[in-house]
Amino acid sequence: MALLEVRNVTRRFGDFVAVDDLSFNVEAGEFFTLLGPSGCGKTTLLRMIAGFDLPDAGAILLDGVDLAQRPPEARPVRTVFQSYALFPHMSVEGNVAFPLQMARTRARDIAANVAAALAKVRLTGFGRRYPHELSGGQKQRVAIARALVTHPAVLLLDEPLAALDAKLREEMQIELIHLQKDVGITFIYVTHDQTEALTLSQRIAVMNQGHIEQLDEPSRIYSAPKTRFVADFIGTCNLLEGSAVASTEGFLVLDIPDLGQVRAAASGSFPAGTAGAIALRPEKIRLGTSLPPAPEENRFGGTVSDLLYMGDVTVYVLTTPRGRKIEALLANSAAGRTKFFEVGDAVELAWPIDAGHVIA
Ligand SMILES: Nc1ncnc2c1ncn2[C@@H]1O[C@H](COP(=O)(O)OP(=O)(O)OP(=O)(O)O)[C@@H](O)[C@H]1O
Ligand SMILES: [Mg+2]
Repeated sequence: MALLEVRNVTRRFGDFVAVDDLSFNVEAGEFFTLLGPSGCGKTTLLRMIAGFDLPDAGAILLDGVDLAQRPPEARPVRTVFQSYALFPHMSVEGNVAFPLQMARTRARDIAANVAAALAKVRLTGFGRRYPHELSGGQKQRVAIARALVTHPAVLLLDEPLAALDAKLREEMQIELIHLQKDVGITFIYVTHDQTEALTLSQRIAVMNQGHIEQLDEPSRIYSAPKTRFVADFIGTCNLLEGSAVASTEGFLVLDIPDLGQVRAAASGSFPAGTAGAIALRPEKIRLGTSLPPAPEENRFGGTVSDLLYMGDVTVYVLTTPRGRKIEALLANSAAGRTKFFEVGDAVELAWPIDAGHVIA
């Protein structure tokens, strides 16, 4: 049985449906992420799991027990907020001890539990400091210690790294992965940052307008997006939309209006004329002034119309003779190499037919 079950949950604000008949399960010990754009209902969903808000329809079950009648403090669920929400007039120890005092834990046990929670987030020795004497990352760790100190079964994290700069964010991501493994509790993590979701999660639910578009492992979300929304939201993706010309066992030919005919590996049959799209990641494309032929490839000519040097990689925007723009990405692996082509260069681009993913 799943640890947490969200079953057909709906939440309306007036006529607006913020969470729309949404269902999913989270397993014990899992790092599960809700990923989606601003306003798609992520925080609303977390608030209902925590018990700060109630669904208009549906149920939330923990270990098979409906939580509807249980107030937040009676749920083995704690939340870490983006703003940390530390008490500024309390020391680090005071902040972490607070939930234990509320639960009327004995003084002796409080000290031991606070020390253990601070050790888990590597803040031993920081107990006497006040929030204003801490860095953003340290504040975040105090917030996590305070959430862990009551040993919840589920930790909800609502964009906990959003306020940090890129470097610290990356450090905290690595720490979160370790911390989650060490403490072994279930994390439900909310973010609108796709890279963060791909890095951290065991499974990701991609949300859009109150519903789940796709629930899968990160590698599947990235390489086999089920919908246009997912393809578009997760990283850069060339979305080649057209209509089916022919389909045989194993592959499909699509006519892309401003490009030409493109073959893609596909299961199922597509009657001629069916609308379809191929999601093609920029790093799957080969580029060259004249490419050696390879079997089972799509190949087009093009001109470099823009390039974006990004340090380790360069993105090339290519325009085909019929005016289609396609993005390709090449690693600048050779020492000191910043680009392979200039704007205006004529190039050939090619990708294997199984590199593109068909979205019906
Ligand atoms: N109390 C409320 N009253 C009315 N509308 C609300 C209320 N809470 C949330 N909403 C609306 O519900 C939708 C979902 O809000 P929610 O806060 O869950 O989004 P989110 O996915 O967390 O977005 P973000 O990434 O910006 O935090 C939004 O359109 C929001 O305006
Ligand atoms: Mg939110």
